[in-house]
Amino acid sequence: MNTRAIRRGGQLTLENALGPGGARTLADDARHGLTRTLKQLPPKHLYDTRGAALFDRICELPEYYPTRTERAILERVADELIAATGAGELVELGSGSAAKTRLLLDAMAAAGTLQRFVAVDVTEAVVRNGAAALTREYPGMHVHGLIGDFERHLDRLPAARGPRLVAFLGGTIGNFDPAARGHFLRNIAGLLGEDDHLLLGTDLVKDRATLEAAYDDAEGVTAEFNRNVLHVLNRELGANFDPSGFHHVAAFDTENEWIEMRLRAREAQEVALPAIGLTVRFAAGEEMRTEISAKFTRKRVAAELAAAGLKLAAWHTDANEWFALSLASRAGS
Ligand code: AVJ
Repeated sequence: MNTRAIRRGGQLTLENALGPGGARTLADDARHGLTRTLKQLPPKHLYDTRGAALFDRICELPEYYPTRTERAILERVADELIAATGAGELVELGSGSAAKTRLLLDAMAAAGTLQRFVAVDVTEAVVRNGAAALTREYPGMHVHGLIGDFERHLDRLPAARGPRLVAFLGGTIGNFDPAARGHFLRNIAGLLGEDDHLLLGTDLVKDRATLEAAYDDAEGVTAEFNRNVLHVLNRELGANFDPSGFHHVAAFDTENEWIEMRLRAREAQEVALPAIGLTVRFAAGEEMRTEISAKFTRKRVAAELAAAGLKLAAWHTDANEWFALSLASRAGS
């Protein structure tokens, strides 16, 4: 309703945990990742403003089922989740998914518990724009935006004001390698009080063709998203990558049960990264890994939660069992 949209909402606060050294991790990651035998870069560097916009387009693609599948599950179970948790505060890690956020906030508003929304994202524009819009849309709700890396800056979260729901949606946990996943889940467990919950979105193991199509769409949006990391390196580190010199590869690794995105050099090439005093050579056909996206089973989610001191309280999936939302709490509570 219009009156709701134009009314000034609750308070908005922002914190930037990245600070002036924000680009330093890119320099470190490039230095380490590009000098290894098997070159690799962490996927978080895909998401500058352009990368975040390309990812939004991916979410609308017919082949990319995770977003719409997770949204449909959430539409069905949001009220149930809020009733089960009594949450008055939503902390969203990687808050790129405004539509899903609103489903949870609406359920909290309907239950009369809604107090605060805390958004954590590395992309400053995503936090700023998202926080501003939600402040207008939910009068009386406090919005706190934390510009930061959820692998490093969870200690910068404000203290909880009541039962808290920490949401990590979209299957982004699949971007961590198994060790980083364990570390991350233990951090989350340490963050949760007795009355708090984790809502975790995970993509599930399924047939190879469906998985690979989701990461290699016919329109080439995912290819452009993948190559975006080269544009980021060019801008941030003064590098001279020719993005068109790299071919997009998406392959399901059945042993590890993860999708790997790679960039394959079409021809031998030499690239300079002056900001870190590095020259990198690619052989023709050489690949650089830019993302893993792990696919899960219920058994594995439960086991990894347990290993981190968390217990699976509820498992919600779609009819095809393509995607799952897990509700977890501290194992002791
Ligand atoms: C945002 C990390 C969940 O792994 O599916 C989409 C990113 N990469 N297409 C995913 C992505 C290629 C996405 N996550």
